Amino acid sequence: MSKLAHRVESISPFHVMAILDKAKMLQASGEDVIHLEVGEPDFVTDSSVANAGIEAIQKHHTGYTSATGLPELKKTLSAYYKKQYQVDVSPERIIVTSGASGALLLLSSLLVNSDDNVLMPDPCYPCNRHFLIQVGAQAKLVETHSSQQFAIDLEQLSEYWDDKTSGLWLASPSNPTGAVLDQAYLETAFSKVSRLGGHLMVDEIYQGLVYEGEDMTALSISDDIFVINSFSKKFAMTGWRLGWAVVPEWAIEGATKLAQNLFISAPTVSQYAAVRALEDDVLVGCESRRQVLDKRRQFLLKELDRLGLPVVAPAQGAFYVFVDVSGITGNAMQWCLGLLDEYKVALTPGDDFGFHNSHKYVRFAYTCNEARLEEALKRIEQYMKRKDA
Ligand SMILES: Cc1ncc(COP(=O)(O)O)c(C=O)c1O
Repeated sequence: MSKLAHRVESISPFHVMAILDKAKMLQASGEDVIHLEVGEPDFVTDSSVANAGIEAIQKHHTGYTSATGLPELKKTLSAYYKKQYQVDVSPERIIVTSGASGALLLLSSLLVNSDDNVLMPDPCYPCNRHFLIQVGAQAKLVETHSSQQFAIDLEQLSEYWDDKTSGLWLASPSNPTGAVLDQAYLETAFSKVSRLGGHLMVDEIYQGLVYEGEDMTALSISDDIFVINSFSKKFAMTGWRLGWAVVPEWAIEGATKLAQNLFISAPTVSQYAAVRALEDDVLVGCESRRQVLDKRRQFLLKELDRLGLPVVAPAQGAFYVFVDVSGITGNAMQWCLGLLDEYKVALTPGDDFGFHNSHKYVRFAYTCNEARLEEALKRIEQYMKRKDA
């Protein structure tokens, strides 16, 4: 009898899958479900970017590219860093991957030995810990607090660090909280991690979706910081499966070897489309979408305040708001399931993102238009009233 590898046991499914399955069932039976659980806005890829992909197919650009990416895309990304963030990043340091997910797998393989651990805040993006399991390592989730915006207290960093710690992984803006880490925090993190002999990785997948605070890149602090990014969110290209990692000079050779062996190359058609995505007129479209998201965010924050639902982290970026529901329920997951069942609004429970006090929180994703958001909040209000009764 064939057996699955032990690591499969250690990988937990998303709790939100239970919500999604239920939402699908309800929808199939004709119910009007409002989705505030998905980490993907309702925008579609810019048509000129889509056309660049179609043109690439028509021109028969359907073979592999070089393992670290199409040279033209790497050059364009390098110019993008210079223009948007005034940072010099040579094209050679850019490794194009299949989404930020591919970059996470690449960096786990590149930087983390089996049996090592990597520090990251609790809560954070849940797949991080699963990529580490893939390489025989593990995430060491560090308890954080709403009073510190769910960021790791860097004063305590050396206490969390042990002789098996390989590095620190952060994300800014954060999923699930939407909080943005500032330059000073990242500088301190980098200097402390360097002193401890580890690596710093910053996930910048929500870069460019910042409404308050500074939209920056950790690459402005040091060439020795590892950064991952993606075309998924800002560019509304989730299904094109394209992202990238930026690595220091000394890591290029190792990253190239791994990219060759793990992936051969990232999707070619998507890479041609992505070159177009970085042109000025498309970036203007990205900015308009950011403004639309900001309007939704402000509306949501105002409404949550009216409903007396505390927002526990500054919702400065991405498209998430992290809310404390412990005033009305002892179990956010059950509360979410009840809300979906009775009022057909889907949210993501905090349990998906960590363990510390996770039963208290839910994540709202403002990924649908304002009219739908308004309707969702009306339904939540009714649910809360009914629960109070
Ligand atoms: C923080 C974070 N990192 C990485 C990813 C992976 O994104 P992708 O593989 O679509 O680029 C996501 C997706 O939601 C995310 O939220």
